[in-house]
Amino acid sequence: MKKLLIYFSMTGNGDYVAKYYKDHNYDIRKVITKKKYPKHKFFMMMTGGFRAGFGLKDKLIDFDKSVDSYKEIVIGSPIWFDRLSPAINSVLNQINIDDKKVTFVLYSASGVANKATEKINKLYKGKVIVLKEPKKNKEEIKKL
Ligand SMILES: Cc1cc2nc3c(=O)[nH]c(=O)nc-3n(C[C@H](O)[C@H](O)[C@H](O)COP(=O)(O)O)c2cc1C
Repeated sequence: MKKLLIYFSMTGNGDYVAKYYKDHNYDIRKVITKKKYPKHKFFMMMTGGFRAGFGLKDKLIDFDKSVDSYKEIVIGSPIWFDRLSPAINSVLNQINIDDKKVTFVLYSASGVANKATEKINKLYKGKVIVLKEPKKNKEEIKKL
């Protein structure tokens, strides 16, 4: 059975999660936003927090929407302003995962993601796992 991870990462935590799934034979699709976020941390937090707060969707470069051949899909997103990242909002808007076994893996500084979990539980049947900075806290990966 083919399995797929679709994820976004700005600072490497998602990439660390992706390594785990790659080692477990998942196909991996990392999404890249068309518009680059500011490098400066303050402006990054303002822009990213604003876009996530309003549930906006980022335009993506060459996003492959085909998921028909997968029965199981994992969606990986950093938590911004307690919400899903705008890149993953865009992914969820473009693919149909209703008939899939879906897991959401969220990575955040606090290990908490209340608003994102609320939204997911309202819209999808999937399981939600929240990791606290897995790149730094390697043992977090055991939650997967
Ligand atoms: C714009 C922005 C907003 C963030 N908001 C939150 C937040 O509300 N709660 C939290 O715990 N972490 C927050 N973080 C921290 C990230 O969720 C955390 O560092 C995550 O592991 C980053 O994943 P990545 O390295 O794959 O990009 C925020 C980070 C950014 C850049």
